[in-house]
Amino acid sequence: MTTIQSCPDVATDVYRDAYSRINAMVVVGEGLADRHFRLLARAMPDDRDELLRLAAMEGRHARDFVGCGRHLGVRPALGMARQLFAPLHELFLGCDRRGDLAGCLVIQGLIVECFALAAYHAYLPVADAYARPITAAVIADEGDHLGYAERWLASRFSVVEPATLEVCQRALPITLAILQRLADDLQAIGIDPLELLAGFAELFQGALEAIGFSASVARRVLARAVATAMGAAARTATA
Ligand SMILES: [Fe+2]
Ligand SMILES: [Fe+2]
Repeated sequence: MTTIQSCPDVATDVYRDAYSRINAMVVVGEGLADRHFRLLARAMPDDRDELLRLAAMEGRHARDFVGCGRHLGVRPALGMARQLFAPLHELFLGCDRRGDLAGCLVIQGLIVECFALAAYHAYLPVADAYARPITAAVIADEGDHLGYAERWLASRFSVVEPATLEVCQRALPITLAILQRLADDLQAIGIDPLELLAGFAELFQGALEAIGFSASVARRVLARAVATAMGAAARTATA
């Protein structure tokens, strides 16, 4: 089935303004992914070469998406993107310092990769002609990264199960809050934020099941994260 979506006008101020923030999120997210895989390569000597290869792919993604912004003549608003990603990055660094490899792989390999995949899938039909082939190629790469983390976690499921649940409880609400903050900008560049959220939930549910969780536990993990994120948003709104 082909979905017909109208492509937004990339020349309008509204589009360019929103794109400067969304493109920055992508560039910062890819840059952090590069850093995270390098840290993992240091912590996991047996998989060092493979992880450095994944890191190099992320670095290339960041450069390619900088090129997409340049092509439209839009400068990425990096400050806000760094701020939005900071809690997730800090959580990753904390796991890395404690030697919690499972936590690191859940944050980068499952959550960030599923988020990136959902976002790029949603962007692909409304991307400009320059960004479309780049986005399609990146989607294939992110699928590989997700697969790596799934295999690593699945092969040690009984050991990593508690750490996975714990880090999900902390990292998923942060991720959902990022999505909430970007909702208006996503809409302005032609992406339905709810569709992106649904895509993320579907991918993440699949990832949890791939590593060994039952479908009902995976659903509960997501539902709890949504409830935490909604509670935090309601507290912010009434503060
Ligand atoms: Fe990437
Ligand atoms: Fe990736």
